Amino acid sequence: MIIQEKMKVVRQTEIAEHIFELTLAGKLVGEISSPGQFVHVRVSETQEPLLRRPISIASIDKTLSQMTIIYRAEGRGTKLLSSKLAEETVNVLGPLGNGFPVKETSEGETAVLIGGGIGVPPLYELSKQLKAKGVKCIHVLGFQTDAVCFYEEEFNRLGDTYVVTVDGSRGTQGFVTDVMAGLETDFATYYSCGPMPMLKAVQNAYSDKKGFLSFEQRMGCGIGACFACVCHTTNNTEHDYVKVCSDGPVFPAGVVSI
Ligand SMILES: Cc1cc2nc3c(=O)[nH]c(=O)nc-3n(C[C@H](O)[C@H](O)[C@H](O)COP(=O)(O)OP(=O)(O)OC[C@H]3O[C@@H](n4cnc5c(N)ncnc54)[C@H](O)[C@@H]3O)c2cc1C
Ligand code: FES
Repeated sequence: MIIQEKMKVVRQTEIAEHIFELTLAGKLVGEISSPGQFVHVRVSETQEPLLRRPISIASIDKTLSQMTIIYRAEGRGTKLLSSKLAEETVNVLGPLGNGFPVKETSEGETAVLIGGGIGVPPLYELSKQLKAKGVKCIHVLGFQTDAVCFYEEEFNRLGDTYVVTVDGSRGTQGFVTDVMAGLETDFATYYSCGPMPMLKAVQNAYSDKKGFLSFEQRMGCGIGACFACVCHTTNNTEHDYVKVCSDGPVFPAGVVSI
């Protein structure tokens, strides 16, 4: 069930340059059903901006009723969010969207998880759940520079992790596809989240594999009512589209036209 709640800030830390890790507590956590779902955050109750910001759920602790989101403070809304302190509240709507299908990879199989920049966070909870199920996870994480890299150690604890930076300041220099080219190809599934050009490159590189892509489309309502997040499908008929907020944000590779 989607609920709106003033969630309590447990802690907020800057874990890389302009990258914040925010842990929130509330009963909304009990409603989260899949890794890759997101929340729609209203950053201010009293002033602009009124429009909520969509942010993926990076990890969940149902025992403590806590969830963590990781976001880049770049525009007005996310900068305001980064000023929230422990014990303050944040108005959150969620959980939203479908999330990644964990059931598509079976125990004993291997999954490759590919993330780019602020597309990396939802892969963390996904990897935790896949590992708990007995799936071997390989992570390929792409960032612009070393200064904005995060969670390398956390992913390393869950499986082999390859970091790639555009300027070569950490890990391999280049793009995620450069690392993917050298990976074992004997894996069952891939899951990916990141900017559109990266998703396109990943989909092309793994065209013969079963994959799931999460799209970070600009959104309005977040609940399927405004059409702000519409994307065309590959069916090429005039009215064939999906709403990323309510039909996605995760789609099987090949469904959305990119
Ligand atoms: C399903 C989903 C999950 C996301 N998960 C994360 C995450 O885990 N961490 C993270 O840092 N970012 C995530 N994003 C992107 C994040 O929503 C934007 O970076 C953020 O909304 C920008 O807000 P702002 O206040 O910084 O920028 P502003 O420039 O003030 O934003 C202006 C408007 O544009 C929208 N907007 C701007 N950039 C984006 C974008 N890239 N995607 C969607 N809307 C945008 C904002 O929501 C807002 O309505 C996600 C986006 C989607 C759709
Ligand atoms: S954001 Fe309104 S329909 Fe998707």
